[in-house]
Amino acid sequence: MSSETLQVNDDEQSAPREPSRREVWRMFDRIAHRYDLANRLLSFGIDRRWRRRLASHLPTGTHLRVLDLATGTADQILDLFARSDRLAEGVGMDLAEQMLARGRQKVEARGLSDRVRLETGDACAIPSEPGAFDALTMSFGIRNVVDVPLAFREMLRVLRPGGRVLILEFSLPANGLIRRLHLFYLRHLLPRVGGFLSGDVAAYRYLNQTIETFPYGQSFCDWMEQAGFENARAVPLTFGIATLYIADRPNCESVDEERSAHVDGA
Ligand SMILES: C[S@@+](CC[C@H](N)C(=O)[O-])C[C@H]1O[C@@H](n2cnc3c(N)ncnc32)[C@H](O)[C@@H]1O
Repeated sequence: MSSETLQVNDDEQSAPREPSRREVWRMFDRIAHRYDLANRLLSFGIDRRWRRRLASHLPTGTHLRVLDLATGTADQILDLFARSDRLAEGVGMDLAEQMLARGRQKVEARGLSDRVRLETGDACAIPSEPGAFDALTMSFGIRNVVDVPLAFREMLRVLRPGGRVLILEFSLPANGLIRRLHLFYLRHLLPRVGGFLSGDVAAYRYLNQTIETFPYGQSFCDWMEQAGFENARAVPLTFGIATLYIADRPNCESVDEERSAHVDGA
């Protein structure tokens, strides 16, 4: 990851060093009480539009089983259930208990407790059976994971063959001027405003440091394909401030079926 990281930042003055992600969920527990408010204000509500885009790429079919990793306060999984009537059940997983507690209140308030459950779980050791889900989502979570290739392997394990992963993550705009303006926002405004709202400046410095040092765009797609996903593609959102990644678990069964049909017919 480090060579990609250098590639991402070598054109920028004063790019931050990569921060430690160890036990980062503890930081989210600390800011859980203000997380939703800070999120809405700091993204100017645009995150809702991004979540909507993610929902529009759910796989085809009905009675879908969905896992939302790093679910936090459950905004992404609740948005999916609000937009699609093709979902049968949803599981939201996170390591931060305080974030999950807020999420559970929201699940209950939406009357979804019988279809959505929030569980403690690590993206690097998902406590689910192989092939348990048709779709897997992860919004603004992958950047926080200590071992991303391990998380990719776990995603592939719990997705059914042909299942889809949808990852939403912050990125940097390609346009030079917009990129510079956005970097100013990330480095100078975000930590101050986020720190004021949450009482935790470090949490919002961590946010800008991880955004600036995390691979995005084609580098991230390549990373997913190296891990075993196929058809990985990146959809830049709002000038590339965020990117939606779409990829599929190879449908080995259909490959096997084709092979045996070929053998039978030969
Ligand atoms: C920026 S929040 C995103 C929350 C939510 N997905 C959203 O869209 O608002 C990142 C979340 O990732 C969680 N997280 C970090 N590392 C994790 C891991 N290894 N496994 C599961 N969750 C993790 C944190 O606890 C935090 O709730």
